[in-house]
Amino acid sequence: MADITIKVRKDGPYEVRGEIELVGADKNIIPLQHEGVNFLCRCGHSKTKPFCDGTHKELGWNDETPAE
Ligand code: FES
Repeated sequence: MADITIKVRKDGPYEVRGEIELVGADKNIIPLQHEGVNFLCRCGHSKTKPFCDGTHKELGWNDETPAE
């Protein structure tokens, strides 16, 4: 069993479980929102990227909608 799992949530974010280090494009470490599980935006509309802020629900984004 992997220590880290990434689950694609239907019509929602990536659910990342496990101890991870999240590194930004500028190579700086991005502080995690939660210990053990974090949700990363898949729709492209979050105001708190790379984390999901729930905006996908407001927009009715689904798995068939291309990410922006
Ligand atoms: S997946 Fe939730 S705001 Fe983008």
